[in-house]
Amino acid sequence: MCGIIGIVSKKQVVDRLIDGLECLEYRGYDSAGIATVNNSEIVYSKSAGKLDSLKNKLKQKPINGYIGIGHTRWATHGEPIEFNAHPHVTKSVAVVHNGIIENFAEFKDALLKKGINFESQTDTEVIAKLVEEKISKEKCRPLEAVRLTIKKLRGSFALCFIFRGHENFMVATRRGSPLALGFGDGENFVSSDALSLSIFSKKVCYLEEDDFAKITSDEVIIYDSDGNSVSRDMHTLYTDPVNLSKGKYKHFMEKEIFEQPEVISQVLGTYLNASKEMLSLPPLPQSTEIKRIILIGCGTAFYSCLVAKYWFESLSSIPTQAELASEFRYRSPVVSKDDLLIFVSQSGETADTIGALRFAKEYTKNILAIVNVEQSSIARESNWVFSTKAGPEIGVASTKAFTCQLLVLKILNIKLASDLYKITAKQRSNLLKGLLELPRLFSEILSQNENIKKLCKKFISSNSVLYLGRDILYPIALEGALKLKEISYLHAEGYASGELKHGPIALIDKSMPLVALNPWSKVFEKTLSNLEEVKARRGRIILLTDKKGRELSKDLTKSIFQLPSCSDFLTPILYSLPLQLIAYYTALDKGTDVDQPRNLAKSVTVE
Ligand code: AGP
Repeated sequence: MCGIIGIVSKKQVVDRLIDGLECLEYRGYDSAGIATVNNSEIVYSKSAGKLDSLKNKLKQKPINGYIGIGHTRWATHGEPIEFNAHPHVTKSVAVVHNGIIENFAEFKDALLKKGINFESQTDTEVIAKLVEEKISKEKCRPLEAVRLTIKKLRGSFALCFIFRGHENFMVATRRGSPLALGFGDGENFVSSDALSLSIFSKKVCYLEEDDFAKITSDEVIIYDSDGNSVSRDMHTLYTDPVNLSKGKYKHFMEKEIFEQPEVISQVLGTYLNASKEMLSLPPLPQSTEIKRIILIGCGTAFYSCLVAKYWFESLSSIPTQAELASEFRYRSPVVSKDDLLIFVSQSGETADTIGALRFAKEYTKNILAIVNVEQSSIARESNWVFSTKAGPEIGVASTKAFTCQLLVLKILNIKLASDLYKITAKQRSNLLKGLLELPRLFSEILSQNENIKKLCKKFISSNSVLYLGRDILYPIALEGALKLKEISYLHAEGYASGELKHGPIALIDKSMPLVALNPWSKVFEKTLSNLEEVKARRGRIILLTDKKGRELSKDLTKSIFQLPSCSDFLTPILYSLPLQLIAYYTALDKGTDVDQPRNLAKSVTVE
């Protein structure tokens, strides 16, 4: 993980390095640091903890420079302390790194044997020492020193270097981890993502595997791994910087939850054409050629895949499986050329998902990315891209990106079912009309947020919470539990309602809150029986249901949140919303850092 930034300019860069790091803090916030070259010498400042701590340090002891690099860290090797913070600096070079150097230990041993000391426990410091050796002992020029060093490294990295004596020259390179370049007027930029560059420049390009960039304030020259000068496609950024502020909200997560009616409307407006009965979609694989669908993702994105599995099998009748990206490629899965592989990811940069995608590409060309970041690595490496169009999601806990993933997957489901004549034109039209109800239904639920806040008081004294759902709401129970644990640090588990009696029911006593998702449906009565079993053991049930479900559950519990009634196929999207609110308000009660929960990062770019 980690975020890296670099600026070469004719103006001072320190304030802008900090602005860039602010945008990158979602990638890690264990420590932060910057380095510049001033009067030919490398100067730096770093601090453990969040960016604010570095800012305070810089207020007390400012540094200057027209060239600089910055880093915000998610700790992999070594604790989140100042010694391990980047940049790692030697006499001649300073480097910031995103990724993991898998063979760092062998180099470290060799360097230690030569009497070279290390200050940190990081893998990155090895890179700085190796480049230093090349420059000071072997008299290599900086670019050559970096190139020769990188050749020896295994693992994933995005790196940005500055050098003593060079106030208008930096080097950036990448393998596995993403790196974007931004082009300005008399200044150029490097960053882990294009979003952070949008505050400086609208023109960007992306480095490809093993590319090197030599960057000055007036010029960027990119070389491929063989040393040939190459050009990379230029892109224009349309991100409105206003989108990156919290507006009237206390947290990005709150903002992202509450903007869902609008965001969902926009997605529907993009993919449903004016008559509202037809789809207007990006180019997609030929439906009739698909024999099986394999959906792959991590965390919340994996739960979208699980929901889609239910949808694809029931409506499109296509055999479908959902896979955890981190498991998929290591278990020798069978993939054939007739399979459609769908990679679902908000960031499009998740290392596990990218790994699974590269594995799958060896077997099939049918690779579809469902991503929120349209220029991400996953999008660029896929044959088709279906954007979730949720807009930038900054809070670490995924909310609007999840509901938009579900929405896009449902739209794809309707298209496949229609193309394969599994549904009639009338049925398709009804399904699309159902989707168009979503913004209104979301607004209705959000207007009752105070009721959810009250229900959350039930969690504050407990150590653990169970989430139950059956059928298509089972993945949503899993997602609800994930959301609660990641931001409130309360232990939570999701279970399929029918599974409770096979073990977890042993956990139930009067101190155990249990969130049950049980609107009226074909499985309503089955789940109600499971909940009666919980009640008999004095578990504290918090029920999310609809009007009919409420009437039939009035003897079950008094803690009920009633959602608007809707078609069965909409329930996974709709029932996600109160679960997001439950997680958010519980975290508020617990006083945790909602947008930047401990130990996490928004974009998980290491395996
Ligand atoms: C969601 O709340 C989590 N922070 C996490 O599970 C996330 O969904 C997962 O890391 C996958 O990220 P991606 O969608 O960017 O690939």
